[in-house]
Amino acid sequence: MGGDTAAPDRPEALAGCTVVLGVTGGISAYKAVEVCRQLVDLGAHVVPVLTEDASRFVGETTFSALASERVRTSLFDDADPIPHTRLGRSADLVLVAPATAKLLGKYAAGISDDLLTATLLATGAPVVLAPAMHTEMWEHPAVVENVATLRRRGVHVVEPDTGRLAGGDVGAGRLAEPSRIVAAVLHMLQVPSASTPPDLAGVRVLVTAGGTREPIDPVRFIGNRSSGKMGHAIAQVAAARGASTTLVTTQGPVSIPGVTAVDVDTAEEMAAAVLAKYDDVDVVVMAAAVADFRPKVAAQEKIKKRDGVPEILLESTPDILAALGERKRAQVLVGFAAETERVREHAAEKLAAKRVDLMVANDVGAADSGFEVDTNRAVLLDSSGASEELPLLTKVELAGVIWDHVGRILRTPVLKRGSS
Ligand code: C5P
Repeated sequence: MGGDTAAPDRPEALAGCTVVLGVTGGISAYKAVEVCRQLVDLGAHVVPVLTEDASRFVGETTFSALASERVRTSLFDDADPIPHTRLGRSADLVLVAPATAKLLGKYAAGISDDLLTATLLATGAPVVLAPAMHTEMWEHPAVVENVATLRRRGVHVVEPDTGRLAGGDVGAGRLAEPSRIVAAVLHMLQVPSASTPPDLAGVRVLVTAGGTREPIDPVRFIGNRSSGKMGHAIAQVAAARGASTTLVTTQGPVSIPGVTAVDVDTAEEMAAAVLAKYDDVDVVVMAAAVADFRPKVAAQEKIKKRDGVPEILLESTPDILAALGERKRAQVLVGFAAETERVREHAAEKLAAKRVDLMVANDVGAADSGFEVDTNRAVLLDSSGASEELPLLTKVELAGVIWDHVGRILRTPVLKRGSS
């Protein structure tokens, strides 16, 4: 087990969390026993699900003894006629370690021919996969594409290590050490671990999320496609890293550990909620997609079809970020620029115009980035003129990168923070 037997710090960090631990049939299945033990040590409720092949490599009795529930192997050996939906729904996270090429292929293709793959398709919980296989298989274009597809869908893949493989070969494809797999679980569940120190302790943070809704009448509104996922991930990660976090969201009600949520609907309500808090915070992240226009007058009663097509006169909404920029003292301001073309250029213009310290420019024109999906591709621009182009990341990962940058800005004296 490569000497990796130490459970991560923070005893009971996973108390109250249910983790479905899928084990597939690879030679490294024995390492899943150690993963199981570390998760249980951290207080997780672990439900092991073994594929038929996994049972050839590792004993069901070992898992049943170590885990919180007996091993499940089949869709049909339960009193429950639909164990996969129950498991999928009850899970806070589904982890598969080791994940064979076969499991990656089935999951990417949406095939559910056993309890584990059915559970993966039935769950809405975060999924972590720790692949393990021979180098040739790991580098095969089919596997590379399956991994890319799964990552695009928001699945967290723990890169295998390079080292000694079954049969004495050496190369990439060795199952990651149990502590790295468990660290990924802690990361996905937003539980601070040794690798996510509470570096934002004492920092007061305000995050906005979601698209505003500007009423046309009591049932209709002008809205946009923002799901709030990016802003919620930013608030989640801030709280996990120790910040005192308020989230102003149009996508409530939400319950995120350590986050105080304020529900709003319109740009006007969001502006009021943000400005009321502004003097008491150190960082504002405006991840919300605030409508730029709203109907000048909202009808009191539902507009009737029989009255013909209404003419709706629009007016501008308050630009919250610009207002924050104008009355900024020492606060760090983070803005988002959702663009469909000339992303970098437009973002740089907004950064200067709104006196923003960090602009997150994302391309909302691509299928795997921006609105509604769990992944995002962004360029970060700061007021010193520096920029960083990031690869496709999950929104939680991107949130981590944004807070790393904000942390650096907070540590820079105000007078040296660039031209804003
Ligand atoms: O100029 P644009 O609206 O594209 O700028 C986007 C940034 O400004 C985002 O951070 C968004 O939250 C913020 N914004 C705002 N108030 C508005 C419009 C956008 O705070 N009315």
